[in-house]
Amino acid sequence: MSSSSCNGSPSLNAVPTHGQPLWLLAELTYKCPLQCPYCANPLDFANRTTELTTAEWIKVFEEGRKLGAVQLGFSGGEPLVRQDLVTLIKEARQMGYYSNLITSGVGLNERKVGEFREAGLDHIQVSFQAADESVNNMLAGSKKAFEQKLKMAREVKAQGYPMVLNFVTHRHNIDQIDRIIELCVELEADYVELATCQYYGWAYENRENLLPTRAQLERAERITNEYRQKLEAAGNPIKLIFVTPDYYEERPKGCMNGWGQVFLTVTPDGTALPCHSAKMLPIEFPNVRDHTLDHIWNESFGFNHYRGYDWMKEPCRSCDDKEKDFGGCRCQAYMMTGDATNADPVCSKSEHHHLITDARAVAEQPLLHEEMLFRNEKNSKVFFRS
Ligand code: FES
Repeated sequence: MSSSSCNGSPSLNAVPTHGQPLWLLAELTYKCPLQCPYCANPLDFANRTTELTTAEWIKVFEEGRKLGAVQLGFSGGEPLVRQDLVTLIKEARQMGYYSNLITSGVGLNERKVGEFREAGLDHIQVSFQAADESVNNMLAGSKKAFEQKLKMAREVKAQGYPMVLNFVTHRHNIDQIDRIIELCVELEADYVELATCQYYGWAYENRENLLPTRAQLERAERITNEYRQKLEAAGNPIKLIFVTPDYYEERPKGCMNGWGQVFLTVTPDGTALPCHSAKMLPIEFPNVRDHTLDHIWNESFGFNHYRGYDWMKEPCRSCDDKEKDFGGCRCQAYMMTGDATNADPVCSKSEHHHLITDARAVAEQPLLHEEMLFRNEKNSKVFFRS
């Protein structure tokens, strides 16, 4: 499909050429031993218990490679729960994927790291909740999580992998940013993602409790920059990646590099989505059990729905930035305004931008209640929609 009109500029009514799904994310399972209150999994995950079989996943990987996918992420839930993970890694390696395991480290051990290495896994990312044992374990909902994560981060490095750590930061741990970075230095991490919570799924439900104040955010960014300079001067090659929440921006993010442009995720039950949150939208998404990935990517209604510019309303439709930010995030627009064709409220041109500035104002106030909704089966069942 072509997006160009006869003068070569993109036509408003055409669906622009979409690329290949370079990045395939396999959400192998929603099972997870932890219960992070900022998890991006669907709220009703406990009622989605069907999982693709080993053979079905292998078929998905094959079809993905044929479509041009080069990077394959194993995530969840906790992907370590899947007993066939080594087989899936091995198959992915034979197909030529660069593969990445995104894990909490809980359930990992020395033997498994060795098996993954032998099977051809390229990269392991271990996530932490905090640099402080009690905060980490409180957020994870497990007394042993922190100790286990430290052990596994060291093991991953010992077995020759780069150490890639991910800290989700928020109101409760962002003031410890210096301790977080010190811990990463002590662990000899190579890459650290200091990513402030994105407010989807469980994080959206707990937003009041998680969104940091502007001052917290600015302080954390300043300290990270100071550490960057100090560490670089000392010859430490660690890379600190600081990701701010879009709630403190005036222009939206170009979510997923555009709808159905480079990213394809498959959920445990085989539903194929253009982003990991899209299942919440009132759109029928295809399943890999019923269609090939080729059909899903190129022909399906769900993947074509927000490609191009036809779906846009004002102010996106006439906005000079629309080819850069695609109107922002469809899921965020839907979650916050009830209509996914609205501009992402992060945009200051959006008539719903006050929803973002209101949330920022709430963040400046003392917390009204400290209780968070943890991601667990009991809480998930509350969100069941038949
Ligand atoms: Fe779904 Fe942004 S998370 S489009």
